[in-house]
Amino acid sequence: MEAVLDWLFSSKEEEQHIITSMAYFMMFMAFCSFVTLTLLKENVPYGRYASSKYGFPVNVKFAWFVQELPAILVPFLLVVSSSATKVFMMPNQLIIAMYFCHYIQRSLIYPFLIRGGKPTPFVSFALAFVFCMYNGYMQVRYLSHFAVYPASWVTHPLFLIGFLMWLFGWLINMHSDHILRNLRKPGETGYQIPKGGMFEYVSGANFLGEIIEWAGFALASQSAQSLAFSIFTTVVLTSRAFSHHNWYLEKFEDYPKNRKALIPFLL
Ligand SMILES: NC(=O)c1ccc[n+]([C@@H]2O[C@H](COP(=O)([O-])OP(=O)(O)OC[C@H]3O[C@@H](n4cnc5c(N)ncnc54)[C@H](OP(=O)(O)O)[C@@H]3O)[C@@H](O)[C@H]2O)c1
Repeated sequence: MEAVLDWLFSSKEEEQHIITSMAYFMMFMAFCSFVTLTLLKENVPYGRYASSKYGFPVNVKFAWFVQELPAILVPFLLVVSSSATKVFMMPNQLIIAMYFCHYIQRSLIYPFLIRGGKPTPFVSFALAFVFCMYNGYMQVRYLSHFAVYPASWVTHPLFLIGFLMWLFGWLINMHSDHILRNLRKPGETGYQIPKGGMFEYVSGANFLGEIIEWAGFALASQSAQSLAFSIFTTVVLTSRAFSHHNWYLEKFEDYPKNRKALIPFLL
């Protein structure tokens, strides 16, 4: 990995410049996604919106496992690299650990718990794979090689609030995904009205958790890279929460009328 990066970049300054540009490009892609998903009302084509227009179907467990794998493999190679001097600093260690906690669950555990998920169209699978590689490199290369925090950053209120948001969001996300998967008995593929946890308040409880999680990560890490990821996640998952909410309202006559799409009591 180190040899490839040395071949790609002539200096550390050049690589840092590229990593910063990657963050701004992700923000630009978030804006493009906002236009496509929110203004033009398209859905990201997987799950209940999967369509054969986007390529042949890939088994859902295989798709989630393989597409998310670069999000831990690339960062793993980066943190074990001999030049990863920043991994010895406590603030960097904690923020990198937050990233790994999420992606170890997402790529090594979540895929094998899915019950009856729809096959993923190849294009969605391939885009998710590229995204995980891009984001994994951008987040963890920055944190392991470039990010400089004062040692006292881990007791700063912004770090502590960000950490608690990350933890709270992650727990909501995993609890909500657990509720969804238990709506199906093994072998079932249909949909039911989710009940319990944050689903009592919003249709997109798992998405709300993930949005809070990465906003907390961005607050704790204070970087253009984490901000870009948080914005991208918010755009994609907000659109998905509203699409699911409208889908439930159309499909179930008895859908709880006081339940909102994403923000409890508001939206
Ligand atoms: N950071 C990001 O940018 C990002 C992007 C996408 C997803 N994610 C995260 O990845 C996870 C999965 O996302 P997703 O978009 O696949 O979530 P989802 O649409 O809510 O589906 C999650 C799983 O639950 C099943 N399911 C959903 N609603 C159900 C219902 N009412 N009854 C029975 N089963 C139901 C789905 O089956 P079907 O496949 O049959 O619909 C799927 O297996 C979430 O935690 C999300 O936050 C993150």
